[in-house]
Amino acid sequence: MITSAAKIKAMNSEYIAWAKTQANATYNLANSGMTPYPLEQLPVTIEELEINGPSYYGYEPLQQALATKCGVETDSVVAAVGTTMANFLVMAATVEAGDEVLIEEPAYEPLLNVARYLGAGIKRFPRRFADGFQIDPREIERAATSRTRLIVITNLHNPSNAFIEEDVLKKIGEIARHVDARVLVDEVYLDAMFEDAPRSSFHLGRQFVATSSLTKAYGLSGLRCGWILAEPELAKKLWGLLDLVIGIPAHPAELLSCVALANLEKIALRSRGILDTNRVVLNRFLTERRELEVCKSEYGTVIFPRLESGRIDELCRILREKYDTTVVPGKYFEMPEHFRLGTGCPSEIFIEGIARLGKALDEISI
Ligand SMILES: Cc1ncc(COP(=O)(O)O)c(C=O)c1O
Repeated sequence: MITSAAKIKAMNSEYIAWAKTQANATYNLANSGMTPYPLEQLPVTIEELEINGPSYYGYEPLQQALATKCGVETDSVVAAVGTTMANFLVMAATVEAGDEVLIEEPAYEPLLNVARYLGAGIKRFPRRFADGFQIDPREIERAATSRTRLIVITNLHNPSNAFIEEDVLKKIGEIARHVDARVLVDEVYLDAMFEDAPRSSFHLGRQFVATSSLTKAYGLSGLRCGWILAEPELAKKLWGLLDLVIGIPAHPAELLSCVALANLEKIALRSRGILDTNRVVLNRFLTERRELEVCKSEYGTVIFPRLESGRIDELCRILREKYDTTVVPGKYFEMPEHFRLGTGCPSEIFIEGIARLGKALDEISI
């Protein structure tokens, strides 16, 4: 079904507003990224920073560092303010009012609302819990028409953490090519697979546009170091749009991003250490909790359990009010019987947060 765009021109995201104002707690298991990486651990001195610099259509050292990291040419890299802006720019550059956009369901809300904001007609294709939240390309094929301009997916999937294999992506690319659409793949969680992470979907063909940042896998959200990988013609258009929305980027952030990219292996090691420790705790917990059904995985920073008995809003209320702990209610991801749990916080916080989650679960099942 296509929703009438004119009637619901989205101007915000309820989920992001909730995350900014309600998710904070001593035991915050709502955050989907790694705990912040401290500035003091980056090998940089104040003398190496500067307020203004030669950043026009990209700051050359940053362009080079991103291109090297992603294994692409610099003319396919567009620097953006986080994956958030990267996604907005890609959609704004590829979709006009009345065009059709195909978006996975469940979805990260800002992706849906940007399409709504642009006046697109939105069609959905399912990612079902029963199928491990995988994508069946035949469902996309059935939904695609000559009016489809963009197919939107996240890999890893937010909220479920499911990984899409390259052969599935290739099939989606074929469908897109057939109707002359693009595939936007938000890959902001992909680096949380570390050495198992595949190459970016950008490499699968001109119709693929990939977005990402240093936020989730590295705990560097504050740098706002995001990027888009797109074929050079589209990349040029995206740089043009950037002139309308930011003009010139924050140069100190560009300089710090270069330092972070040069030290990414070390930063990733910290993330892996935390995630590996937390995963052992999490998997033991999940084995013991019969009321939680979940697709377990050995990578990533989130899981999305389904509560088999009891109510999620009651669980979240008790967690917050009595246990100073937060998780994301599944209603923000279109699946109210689930909740999303982040695994990237410091292990001492995670261990205690999980213990508190266990107590709250005991209470709602009485
Ligand atoms: C799928 C997805 N894309 C983008 C973002 C935002 O990332 P960034 O911090 O790079 O803007 C998030 C954050 O939750 C996300 O889940």
